[in-house]
Amino acid sequence: MGYAMVRSVALHGVAGEVIVVEADVAPGLPSLVVSGLPDAALSEARDRVRAAVHNSGAYWPQQRITVNLLPAHVRKHGSGFDTAVAIAVLAAGADLPIGRLADAVVLGELGLDGTIRPVRGVLPAVLAASRAGVGFAVVPQANITEARLVPDIEVRAADCLGRILGYLYGSENLLDPVLEGPPPEPPPLDLADVLGQERGRRVIELAAAGRHHVAMFGPPGAGKTMLAARLPGVLPPLCDQEAIEVTALHSIAGTLAPTGALIRRAPIQAPHHTASVSALVGGGSGLAKPGAISLAHHGVLFLDECAEFASGVLDALRQPLEQGEVRLRRTYGETVYPAQAQLVMAANPCPCAKPGGRQMCQCPSIIRRRYQARLSGPLMDRVDLQVDLDPVRSAALLNTEHVEPSSVIAKRVMMARQAATERWGASARTNGDVSGAMLRDKRFRLSRQILRPLTVEMDRGRLSARGFERSVRVAWTIADLDGRQRPEAADVREALEMRSRTAR
Ligand SMILES: Nc1ncnc2c1ncn2[C@@H]1O[C@H](COP(=O)(O)OP(=O)(O)OP(=O)(O)O)[C@@H](O)[C@H]1O
Ligand SMILES: [Mg+2]
Ligand SMILES: [Zn+2]
Repeated sequence: MGYAMVRSVALHGVAGEVIVVEADVAPGLPSLVVSGLPDAALSEARDRVRAAVHNSGAYWPQQRITVNLLPAHVRKHGSGFDTAVAIAVLAAGADLPIGRLADAVVLGELGLDGTIRPVRGVLPAVLAASRAGVGFAVVPQANITEARLVPDIEVRAADCLGRILGYLYGSENLLDPVLEGPPPEPPPLDLADVLGQERGRRVIELAAAGRHHVAMFGPPGAGKTMLAARLPGVLPPLCDQEAIEVTALHSIAGTLAPTGALIRRAPIQAPHHTASVSALVGGGSGLAKPGAISLAHHGVLFLDECAEFASGVLDALRQPLEQGEVRLRRTYGETVYPAQAQLVMAANPCPCAKPGGRQMCQCPSIIRRRYQARLSGPLMDRVDLQVDLDPVRSAALLNTEHVEPSSVIAKRVMMARQAATERWGASARTNGDVSGAMLRDKRFRLSRQILRPLTVEMDRGRLSARGFERSVRVAWTIADLDGRQRPEAADVREALEMRSRTAR
């Protein structure tokens, strides 16, 4: 008979909050009531926790047990509180001494046999605990590597409830696995593999340097998929803050590699064109899972064969891309996940997908136009680089010398990024983010002479005001890559060329 409390962590999106699991055991008919806004999984926890306690050789109090999760207004999801509930009940009703966990948060789902199962989101949960000043975390053994990424908190693991009980009685130790360094990541795919295709290689370099969204059109075998897959390899590595954010999102999604190492390379996600809206932007019941756009946070969202995606799916991406985050409305409130992804799209110029490209296609123009219409629209409006790629010539495939590898390109990209960051200051991080107002600011406005290639196109009705602005952004990226202070007319001309699509 008595009262006890154990702490755990509830997650909302990537934000965690330390919560208290309190248990009260009083005389009365044996029962277990759980309160504090539990969702379905937590109600199911009752039977699971009881079985786990029995099968760990402990005595389940045959009394009236009340478990409450505080603060009551915080929505709690999932099965990550099982272990904390079991310990609180045993402390309140069976004199389990919990002094050694006084400064701890406890995370983990219980199996019926008393094993402690891994849970999603351990990295952000332990991070929240550390930020709240908690000094100690006990996590499932399978989650220890990601938990150890968090600074300023001692982390131990448990494989079963029995081990934690033994630890509290002083007869057993928690696990403290010696971590081997993560195995070296396989090297990223290299642009040196892409022969010929100068324009394709250039557009990937520009996209990387300016963090511009990019769309590539071209016949089958032009190398579109190859090029897109090589973009992460020329992007700068993630900084500490970005790495933690990305790793936390993958922890919540349950897509972290078993090594649990910090994700340092810009991620790439390539959802299939049959993917649903929730696969792309996130959703699902209980703790909403981040979608592909959030798993591509600080990295690349690659929509291959983008004309084949359902239009509703593409529309659903627009707002997250503009706002850099996804807001998932749930019955009980909103879950927010970051989603600063760089968009790469690829498609054939025509549904017939003739290898020779435009020359070979004999489709009626109405079919071509209908297909093209699927590739325009509000999403494409945000894409600075839209290029048609030519088929690779056989000569290019034979000439494998002097092809610049990704390592060389990545260095130029890094320098260009630095130049842009210094120039835009607080108003933008990259040329892809910079606002139209900033481009027109008198400090950065380009002269009439320099802009002439664009004004000519505009006067001929071949360039929209939006297209004009995008070309100026790209021109800045071209100058940055070349180490020059400001774009020149030739840069503006190349930028225009990089919007070589007929529909500008
Ligand atoms: N520039 C290139 N250099 C070397 N190999 C290439 C090049 N372009 C294409 N290939 C070869 O052709 C294959 C197909 O290329 P990829 O899948 O990137 O074409 P794609 O443009 O995406 O075609 P699709 O429209 O059919 O998807 C590659 O796996 C590669 O072997
Ligand atoms: Mg392809
Ligand atoms: Zn065709």
